[in-house]
Amino acid sequence: MLNKKIAELINDQINKELYSGYLYLDFANYYEDEGLEGFAHWYQIQAQEERDHAMMMRRYLIDNGVRVTFGAIAKPDKVFKALSDPLDAGFEHEKYVTSLINNIYAEAFALKDFKTMQFLDWFIKEQGEEEKNAEDMVKKMKLYGHDAKGLYSLNQELAARVYTPSATGPAM
Ligand code: FEO
Repeated sequence: MLNKKIAELINDQINKELYSGYLYLDFANYYEDEGLEGFAHWYQIQAQEERDHAMMMRRYLIDNGVRVTFGAIAKPDKVFKALSDPLDAGFEHEKYVTSLINNIYAEAFALKDFKTMQFLDWFIKEQGEEEKNAEDMVKKMKLYGHDAKGLYSLNQELAARVYTPSATGPAM
């Protein structure tokens, strides 16, 4: 049986991961509207990955005898004025998610909940990758996004992203 505080934090994180997916789908909606289908596609896949994160946490709780409960998912309310705005917002959001995961990890450490620490190890690594991906997007947009040819190429590059469920992540 999991410690009550840990169970609550992970249950709450499920909501945050689903919100992340909702947020990234909102980014995709924006880029679809702007005619940048590659950017939209990239965020649509990112939204799928966020749902996977939520499912991994849900499975972990269930497998540890916890009754999972869902709260309302917040409305994405970002207003975009420039094509780079969702990329900047995405990088900021991932840094925030890292802080949430780190917080759960710190609680697990304090409680000597080694099982949960091991479960979270994958998420710690994943957050490192997600922050890097988000930062790379910001950098590339700064470098190439200012002229039509650069933007076109970047859009093509992002369109090539393929969704593959993680082979190394926790069960869903
Ligand atoms: Fe589930 Fe983008 O972190």
